[in-house]
Amino acid sequence: MTGHYPNTRLRRTRATGWSRALHRETVLTPSDLIWPLFVTSGTDVEEPIATLPGVSRWSVDGIVARAKEAVDLGIPVIALFPNTPRELRSDDGAEAHNPDNLMCQAIKAIKDACGDSIGVLTDVALDPYTSHGQDGLVNDAGYVVNDETVAMLVDQAVNQANAGADIIAPSDMMDGRIGAIRRALEMNGHPNVQIMSYAAKYASAFYGPFRDAVGSGGLLKGDKKAYQMDPANADEALREVAMDIAEGADSVMVKPGLAYLDIIYRVKQRFDVPVFAYQVSGEYAMIEAAQAAGIGDRDALVLEKLIAFKRAGCNGVLTYHAAHVARLLNG
Ligand code: PBG
Repeated sequence: MTGHYPNTRLRRTRATGWSRALHRETVLTPSDLIWPLFVTSGTDVEEPIATLPGVSRWSVDGIVARAKEAVDLGIPVIALFPNTPRELRSDDGAEAHNPDNLMCQAIKAIKDACGDSIGVLTDVALDPYTSHGQDGLVNDAGYVVNDETVAMLVDQAVNQANAGADIIAPSDMMDGRIGAIRRALEMNGHPNVQIMSYAAKYASAFYGPFRDAVGSGGLLKGDKKAYQMDPANADEALREVAMDIAEGADSVMVKPGLAYLDIIYRVKQRFDVPVFAYQVSGEYAMIEAAQAAGIGDRDALVLEKLIAFKRAGCNGVLTYHAAHVARLLNG
């Protein structure tokens, strides 16, 4: 129900800043943000990533500094991704199980320095560890095999939880991995370690800069369409989410972000679970390219896109702009 002009003038409440603030339906705060960070080996190392201008890989000491920065900015969670040295990558990605791998070193160092003042979310998938860049084990026909991969992911998740990870985030899109990981976490003394499932993850053209960042881009042959979702599908995303919730996911993610706002909206309407979006590397890079080309204002573009995620129903967003946006919001 709404009134008629001129008794009702919708511009009335828009006329001043105080009134716009009063009538704002959605807010964005630093506590909505999850900051993805790339870990590299060495000490005192910062490696800028050419296709992600403004984002660097950091050695563990630098990652700890970023974690402290996040705490100061009011960002509740950081997400870690490793750039595994080439010589430690293998067909089966066994380095994912090494209790002293880059991820585990970074998790431990952050937890030692920051304790529970920040949550550490860790990626579960084999692509940063395999010599072929696929997220799982590849058979002779070139197919990523499901159940054998799930067994690997379970060990990877427990390895990360043992190191102190707070949220396990499987990004691999194998069937059945959420239930298998949940059972293993319970059996291994980690009942309070959460799972944020990449439930609806699409085979997207927006992931290119990320693959450069973790060093899998040059290795990957072919695509990931036999496990990541077809961008044409939406009903199927709801089935993916339903299964992951049934298997024990504490929260679910839709990825990429902006091109999939309809999925976020439908997931939020249908299920009573926390929903997150991953504004992925290509989305970040496009905003930076617009700024560099003088065709848009970075800050305004970022804030508009992030509020769109909140409006669509997200509880939070993974974004490479997290620290920048938190600084903007903190004024
Ligand atoms: C792979 C993974 C990808 C991202 C996160 N985990 C890319 C892929 O599926 O190849 C993408 C993140 C981004 O683009 O920012 N497990």
